[in-house]
Amino acid sequence: MKTALKVVGALLGIALLCAGGLYAWASIRTTRMLTRIVDTHQVDFPIPFPLTEAEIAELASPDSARAVALARAIERGRHLVDSRYVCTECHGANFGGGVMIDDPAIGTALGPNITGGFGSRVWEYDTADWDRTIRHGVGPSGRPLVMPAEDFQLMSDQELSDVVAYVKSVPPVENEVPAVTLGPLGKVLLALGEILLAADVIPSHTAPHSVFPPASEATVEFGRHLSGVCTGCHRPDFSGGPIPGGDPSWPPAKNLTPHESALGSWSFDDFARSLREGTRPDGTGVLEPMAAIVRYTRNMSDTEVQAIWNCLQTVPAVPVE
Ligand code: HEC
Ligand code: HEC
Repeated sequence: MKTALKVVGALLGIALLCAGGLYAWASIRTTRMLTRIVDTHQVDFPIPFPLTEAEIAELASPDSARAVALARAIERGRHLVDSRYVCTECHGANFGGGVMIDDPAIGTALGPNITGGFGSRVWEYDTADWDRTIRHGVGPSGRPLVMPAEDFQLMSDQELSDVVAYVKSVPPVENEVPAVTLGPLGKVLLALGEILLAADVIPSHTAPHSVFPPASEATVEFGRHLSGVCTGCHRPDFSGGPIPGGDPSWPPAKNLTPHESALGSWSFDDFARSLREGTRPDGTGVLEPMAAIVRYTRNMSDTEVQAIWNCLQTVPAVPVE
C-alpha cells in the first residue's frame, strides 16, 4: 500500500515537474517570439488617394478635388470595414477599444483604441506604420502583434488608404487599453506552434503590394481578392476544418468547394442568403463565429457576393471529410 502511494506520489511529482518545465520553456519561448524584431519594407502612399484626371474634370470646381477625394475615400473605407475587414469586431464599434480574446487560460488580447483620442495607439502612426501593422502583423517598433493580420495581407494600397481615411474620420474616444497578456495555455499553444502569429504566416514582408484592387466586377479575380478574408478560417483551398488558433468552442469552418458534399448542391441564391441572412438551404442558421462574420458580409454589394461565388466555382472540389 505504502509503495503504491509512493509510486503515485513520484509519478505526480514527475508530472508536475514536466508541467512546470513545459510552462517555463513556453514562457521563455513566447517572450522571445513576441519581443524579436521582424524586418518589413517601408511603404508610402497617399491618404486619401487623389482623384483621377477624369474625376476632377467632372467636378463643378477643381478646388474641391481634395475634399471630394477624402469624402469618397472615407465612404469606400466605411464599406470595406463594414462588409469585409471587420476591424470593429475587435476594436469596438467606435474604434475606441474592444475584445479579441478574454480567457484566463488563453490570455487577454484586447483591441486597442485606434481613434485620435487619449489612450490611442495610433497617434504617431505614419503610412509605413499602418502598412506594417495591418498587412504584416508587425507593430511600429518592429515587434510581432497577435492581431490576425494575415486576413488583411491582400489589401491593396488604395484599400488600406481608404480604411485609414475612414478610421481617422471617426470621433476621438478617450480610452487606454492594456497590452496583450498570454495565459498559461496561450503560452504553451503559441510556443508549440498551435497558435501562429500573423508575422510568421504572411509569406513576405518585402514583396510589393498591389496599388489598386481588381475592378469591382463579378469576376473570379475580384472574388479571389475578396475571399482573402475567408481563407484564414476556411483554409486557402476552401476545404474548411478546425480553425487554427480559434476558440475551442467554435465548430470547424465548412467546406466551401464545389464538391457535391459541400456547396456543389447550393444555388447562387442559397449562397447569397447564407452571407446576407446567415441561413442555410435547410433553414438552419450558421453558428459563431460565422454568425459574427455575417453581420459584415450582409453589407456586401451584389457584385461582391457574385464575385466570391464565381471564384468558389473555380476551386478544386474537395469532399467533406
Ligand atoms: C480579430 C481581432 C482584430 C481585428 C479583426 C482587427 N484587429 Fe487590430 N488589433 C487587435 C489586437 C488584439 C491588437 C493588439 C495588439 C496586438 O495584436 O498585439 C490590435 C492592434 C491594432 C493596432 C495597433 C498596433 C500597435 O500596438 O501599434 C492597430 C492600428 C490596429 N489593430 C488596426 C486595425 C484595423 C484598421 C483593423 C481592420 C482592418 C483591425 N485592426 C482588425 C485585434 C484585431
Ligand atoms: C472567423 C472564421 C470565419 C471567417 C472569417 C469566415 N467564415 Fe464562413 N464559416 C465559419 C464557420 C466556423 C462556419 C461553420 C458554422 C456552422 O457550423 O454553422 C462557416 C460557415 C460558412 C458557410 C455555410 C456553409 C455550410 O455548408 O453550412 C458559408 C457559405 C461561409 N461560411 C462562407 C464564408 C465566406 C464567403 C467568408 C468570407 C467572406 C467566410 N465564410 C468567412 C468561419 C468563418
